[in-house]
Amino acid sequence: MLTVILTLSTALLALGADVSVPISSHWNGGFQGSACFNIMEEMHSWTVVLTFDQPISSLDVYTADIKETLDGGKVFVLQNKEWNKDEHVGDKLCLDFQGHGSGDINPTVTGSIHAGDSTGAPITAGPGQTLAPTTPRPTVPGQTHAPTTARPTVLFSSDGNKAPLKINSDWGDRFDGEFDFTPSQNVIGWVVNITFSKPVNKMDIIAGDEYSHSADGLNWILINKGDHAFAQAGSSLQVKFFGNYAGGKPAPTGEATLVNMGIDHWSISPAATTDTSKYNYNDVLYKSILFYETQRSGKLPANKRIPYRGDSALGDKGDAGEDLTGGWYDAGDHVKFNFPMAYSTAILAWGYLMYADAYKAAGQDTYLLDSIKWPLDYLLKCHTKPDELYVQVGDGGADHSYWGPPELMTMARPAYKITASKPGTDVAMETAAAFAIGSLVFKNSDPTYSATLLTHAKQLWELGEKHRGIYSDSVQAAAAYYRSYNITDELAWGSIWLYQATNENKYLALAEKYFDPAPAWGMSWDDKTIVNQVMLYKITKDEKYKTAVEDSFKFWFPGGGIPYTPKGLAYRLQWGSLRYSSNMAMAALVAADAGLNADQYRHWAMCQIHYALGDTGFSYLIGFGDKYPHSPHHRASSCPNLPAPCGPFIMSSKEPNVHILYGALVGGPGQSDDYTDDRSNYVNNEVACDYNAGFQTAVAALKSLWLRKEHPEQKGTAQCPFSTGSGNTGSVVGKK
Ligand SMILES: *[C@@H]1O[C@H](CO)[C@@H](O)[C@H](O)[C@H]1NC(C)=O
Ligand SMILES: *[C@@H]1O[C@H](CO)[C@@H](O)[C@H](O)[C@H]1NC(C)=O
Repeated sequence: MLTVILTLSTALLALGADVSVPISSHWNGGFQGSACFNIMEEMHSWTVVLTFDQPISSLDVYTADIKETLDGGKVFVLQNKEWNKDEHVGDKLCLDFQGHGSGDINPTVTGSIHAGDSTGAPITAGPGQTLAPTTPRPTVPGQTHAPTTARPTVLFSSDGNKAPLKINSDWGDRFDGEFDFTPSQNVIGWVVNITFSKPVNKMDIIAGDEYSHSADGLNWILINKGDHAFAQAGSSLQVKFFGNYAGGKPAPTGEATLVNMGIDHWSISPAATTDTSKYNYNDVLYKSILFYETQRSGKLPANKRIPYRGDSALGDKGDAGEDLTGGWYDAGDHVKFNFPMAYSTAILAWGYLMYADAYKAAGQDTYLLDSIKWPLDYLLKCHTKPDELYVQVGDGGADHSYWGPPELMTMARPAYKITASKPGTDVAMETAAAFAIGSLVFKNSDPTYSATLLTHAKQLWELGEKHRGIYSDSVQAAAAYYRSYNITDELAWGSIWLYQATNENKYLALAEKYFDPAPAWGMSWDDKTIVNQVMLYKITKDEKYKTAVEDSFKFWFPGGGIPYTPKGLAYRLQWGSLRYSSNMAMAALVAADAGLNADQYRHWAMCQIHYALGDTGFSYLIGFGDKYPHSPHHRASSCPNLPAPCGPFIMSSKEPNVHILYGALVGGPGQSDDYTDDRSNYVNNEVACDYNAGFQTAVAALKSLWLRKEHPEQKGTAQCPFSTGSGNTGSVVGKK
């Protein structure tokens, strides 16, 4: 039975690690609750012991493994999963569980966390030892889950800006004082670190709040109130307050240091170029992958590369408590919209299938694989049953009314799913496509993972095929943001990739059945017409697919059905104009590699991509080249370093984002090449996972052409803007 291991239980008690675990609901046969622990030491693996005051028959926990059940079902020993093994000081770890027993029971539960694993000696305690009741931790009213405190805090790395204490009045026990700073750079959020000559036991600060003070009252740290975040370089920043002291006049003397929280000391250098191409494609690939890392939700790995991002949305879960952490935040906001996420994953994974040579030559192949595995892992979690797929986490309305970093979110994040009775053929097929392509990408390097992806791909294809419907009709929460208009293209797209991964003819038959020969309106997360045309041509070499591809590009080339800006951008739509041009450029590069009008398609595609990279004298890719956007509509990168507050006052300020959002492609210009770098403009200046996907793949294709010596610049056909007279061969529809 119970073995008493005194060393461990003593250690646990000594750490004071016992917490009482609230039960949130109970019913006949079961109950659920959440055990939360504030992490006080670095852990690289951990064990949690949950102790119930009565035996229960079983326990379900999604975010940990059950290692042992002891004491007749009263004690459960849980071990971390691989992905949440690293916990850092300041993190908060919450384990949701469902217990089962007979009758309607509402047990009293305590929990403790312990660094290290449970291998070796069993982890238990003497009766009564770990059961000692402890005070529950306070919860903040209105908070549906506690914010994590894991956003890296860049505290007090002083920029040397000091000021002496100025006393305006001294009443013998209280004084009116101020510090007058003259910041050398524009301030976006500040911290002031004060040292007094004698103890100050209370401070009332006009434009700031106390952050902390030392027990002896000699050191105080203040932080700005939200709407007092700003001061111009060279202007006076006055921090005024009243202080209480004891022992009679005179008031203390003092000195303070100002820390500007609006400075990110992190910056990166361009990736080394290995080509003599006009643009450094290595650098584009490097930074574009970094952008996807900035978008990561969930528990970040130890090798994370974005210093200002930490763990977030660790409470994301399904209706039965299934773990839905991970994935990518969609854009400048923090909703996880799976339809565009799966699309972006599919396109990037496809890009690697075709252009691994480019990623390898750029030194980015392992980063790319890591990049696409992140959303694939999340999407696997979302596929909770063969006919159940979560397709969104987070509520658009609640999310969009919050301007702050994801690490500090506290709003409820509901999860939404499709099922056989609430169908979503489009999202099921798109996710199936991402899984099928992923299974091809990982086929050799990780056969087990590849097989898992393929199993899920087949199940989702079945779900989407058998139960037809538009997902945004089933999930109203998605309709205002990513409404799907047609499932025909995804039926073909998903089937094409199932065919590629299995060679089973039933998939190809369905793809051909749903083929649409009409010229593509465009290409996006919602419209896969052109890539279906290109892929079916690649697979079958059938003339009818070739004709469809050529008709689509006739429609897209100058003189066809798409307006062009004066500087040569194919301008499909005001909202995210560069994504449409980049996506079609990617499709043209793939069509060219399939043998269709190669010179002309490559030339046109290169001009579209180079427009975005700087041909107009401005790069729409953040952090690339010399002139690029500094104020994208993106919450995480706009906020000052913690602990400085963030909020709508940051959104609406004229200051640039505090952090450079490396590698993100902004929406893009208007129809007359007009553009302003304005954070409030989410039409032209937002960023999104889907904007970067076709773009990144197109750049990988151009890099691959360079390696193959087929790049337009190497062939002397690189004049931009593209026109039918600029050195093309072959017949082109369009004007000179
Ligand atoms: C505040 O300033 C004092 C004196 O310069 C320094 O010793 C202390 O480390 C600073 N506090 C923080 C949190 O940086
Ligand atoms: C969807 O697109 C197909 C062509 O691909 C078309 O035949 C069909 O009418 C469209 N459905 C809707 C609902 O628009």
